[in-house]
Amino acid sequence: MQPVRTADPSPERFRQVLGRFATGVGVLTTVVDGLVHGMTANAVTSVSLQPPLVLVCVDRTALMAERVTRAGCFAISFLAADQQALSAWFADPSRPDDARQFAGVPTRVAATGVPVIEDGVGFVDCRLHAVHDGGDHLIVVGRVEALGDGGSNEPLVYYRSGYRRLAGQP
Ligand SMILES: Cc1cc2nc3c(=O)[nH]c(=O)nc-3n(C[C@H](O)[C@H](O)[C@H](O)COP(=O)(O)O)c2cc1C
Repeated sequence: MQPVRTADPSPERFRQVLGRFATGVGVLTTVVDGLVHGMTANAVTSVSLQPPLVLVCVDRTALMAERVTRAGCFAISFLAADQQALSAWFADPSRPDDARQFAGVPTRVAATGVPVIEDGVGFVDCRLHAVHDGGDHLIVVGRVEALGDGGSNEPLVYYRSGYRRLAGQP
């Protein structure tokens, strides 16, 4: 079967095609002025082994953009298949912008002082390494200071604007 080719790079078409690249789902967390903030993110990529670098792309209009660059550290918790509600919560613009954001969310504090969500499939804890221009997003690069597996081996998957599980998962 021939792939369908189109030159139309409209935002809608961009979303449709890039949405065919399946990803995990992360929650980016940071702490600034004593305020913890979390945001769902799937634009997450490993960058370098030595030094260990990861990147996450953050919408310039997100509250997170100013906070993570000012904080200088962040963590990304990789969600498990049964944590879909946490993904929806940390993507909801109407969630409270204070400590209530984490009420009932099981967390522990990582080495940089940023909370990591428990019971996921893994996490990285980072110091801010660089911030690059990424069009309407910031490309936020972090140097990994600590990392770990989570309690689950079943990742939450995001594909074509919907949540999925890996085949064979219950
Ligand atoms: C599955 C999923 C993945 C997302 N990935 C990103 C992302 O990589 N970068 C981003 O800036 N926003 C992403 N978002 C949207 C943000 O989570 C959402 O706009 C959030 O409310 C921004 O939070 P803030 O403005 O309070 O910081 C994603 C949302 C969902 C549901």
